Amino acid sequence: KLEKIWLTIGISMLFVFLGVLGVSAFAMGLQPPSEHHHMLDPAKVYETAPFDKPGLRQTGDNTYEAVMTAFTFGYAPDKMEIPLGATIDFVVTSQDVVHGFEIPGTNINMMIVPGEVSHVSHKFTKPGEYLILCNEYCGGAHEFMKTTIIVK
Ligand code: CUA
Repeated sequence: KLEKIWLTIGISMLFVFLGVLGVSAFAMGLQPPSEHHHMLDPAKVYETAPFDKPGLRQTGDNTYEAVMTAFTFGYAPDKMEIPLGATIDFVVTSQDVVHGFEIPGTNINMMIVPGEVSHVSHKFTKPGEYLILCNEYCGGAHEFMKTTIIVK
């Protein structure tokens, strides 16, 4: 009798498992293929717009886009001047491995994954030098991976 109970439980578990598997497969099938538009070949970042010309460009009255790439072990562009009080949309990707993108003193803290484009917006209201640093271990010189932006 005990065997029958265990068999029933076992079969029920199997059906629950198959059900979960079916639902997740269905959910994955529903995901739009447009996800792939955000993928880019890390080896071709140098020649892929907008990353072929990293830097700051004005996109509105008081908005700018800061296009940057992370690589082992630094960022491009090397130094950037940011207008005080403007909204800066950072657009960042990696040319090789996973890096970090943290600006201490702000809420900016992103993981930069090769093949993906990361976005964050920020308005700098205090002038001065800000460090951008890598907070994801990316190799021997990881702790030296940083750059500076100057807000003025
Ligand atoms: Cu890049 Cu750590």
